Amino acid sequence: MKVLVIGSGGREHAIVWKLKKSKKVDKIFCAPGNAGISKQAKCVNVKAENIKGLVDFAIRNKIGLTVVGPEVPLAKGIVNEFQKKKLKIFGPTKEAAQIESSKVFSKKFMQKYHIPTAPFKTFNMFAEAVGFCNSAQFPLVIKADGLAAGKGVIIVKNIEEATKALDDIMLSKVFGSAGSQVLIESFMVGQEVTIMAIADGKTIVSLLPSQDHKQVYEGDKGPNTGGMGAFCPTDFVTKDVMTQIVDHVLAPTIHGMSQEGNPFKGVLMAGLMLTDAGPKVLEFNCRFGDPETQAVLPLLKTDLAELMLASINQTLSSFPKLNWKPGSSACITIASKGYPGKYSKGMPIKGIHDIKEENCFVFHAGTILKDNKLVTSGGRVLGVTGTDKNLTMALSRAYRGVGKIKFNGSMYRKDIGFRVLKKAQR
Ligand code: GLY
Repeated sequence: MKVLVIGSGGREHAIVWKLKKSKKVDKIFCAPGNAGISKQAKCVNVKAENIKGLVDFAIRNKIGLTVVGPEVPLAKGIVNEFQKKKLKIFGPTKEAAQIESSKVFSKKFMQKYHIPTAPFKTFNMFAEAVGFCNSAQFPLVIKADGLAAGKGVIIVKNIEEATKALDDIMLSKVFGSAGSQVLIESFMVGQEVTIMAIADGKTIVSLLPSQDHKQVYEGDKGPNTGGMGAFCPTDFVTKDVMTQIVDHVLAPTIHGMSQEGNPFKGVLMAGLMLTDAGPKVLEFNCRFGDPETQAVLPLLKTDLAELMLASINQTLSSFPKLNWKPGSSACITIASKGYPGKYSKGMPIKGIHDIKEENCFVFHAGTILKDNKLVTSGGRVLGVTGTDKNLTMALSRAYRGVGKIKFNGSMYRKDIGFRVLKKAQR
């Protein structure tokens, strides 16, 4: 079978790497891909948001399975368009993708189906939103309704910060039409964890729990990024916590989406806060996480193409139990200095081939080949994943790999996994 993977980041590189091991897969194309992906798949120059171009490519090349990495093409209805042409595609329809593409849809859905989440209010008038904040208890979380490339969630500690955030989103429209409505919710305290699960509209199968580190600096300080590292599994999600998440979050979500006439197929990713009152949903995503995928897939032994086809064909209820490599994995992001603000591009990257260790994998994100030389082309440049018997050893393996890679202005966090390691010492 020929496979098309859509996207160009570390997540897509990990998906390509894993699909390459499938006995079902003969050839992989990636649109548009990156320099690392081009070693394992044929990269094609079609952008992830060019839905018509991707449909035409899939028809012309007799693609048997298309996998969508990022949320934007899903929110724009790529699955609906592929389905119209009877092409097999892994992911939710535009209607089901609203669980990520509209935070207001998502929260109202959770409220209706009693899925635990923070209390909230929605506003489309600036003055009303400010008025609400004036009498509310801080901190609060202000969210733009639509997709904002991971930047549309702002935690505010007082009325001045709240007014500024609301002004930016609703009046200055820094996120464009994504800010036409806002959601204001209570701030939750606890450990933040990620559960990705594969759904076929009726049945849901969880992958191992993971955690990412969104902030740029050590100690989870500084501005949010796309993710500076992730690890899997996490000790914070015990068997009992996982049961609560499946029973109170994942299963009712799949049931509710089906009741609403929008059955959810693909990856349902729940960002959860483990509060004293149990796990509560921070947000849902309708796709694989980045960089969580680079940590989770290296531990998955099950054939990923077969799992994705079972989602499309609605046969997950009879799919064999997922098979996992024992131990842990950790992924460290190497970024360009200045990220998530301004940074330079075009820096030559050296040292990847000096990584000779087994179970140390380099996933490319912002890289391109210029005159046949590997150079940086993005804020997040590479993710180095190590797998080993436990988290400490997986981290050491990943950091040994990171130590070999050099480019001007490279930076990475040295404390990925610190909360779990601290917990283990207590
Ligand atoms: N790591 C969070 C996300 O992919 O949105």
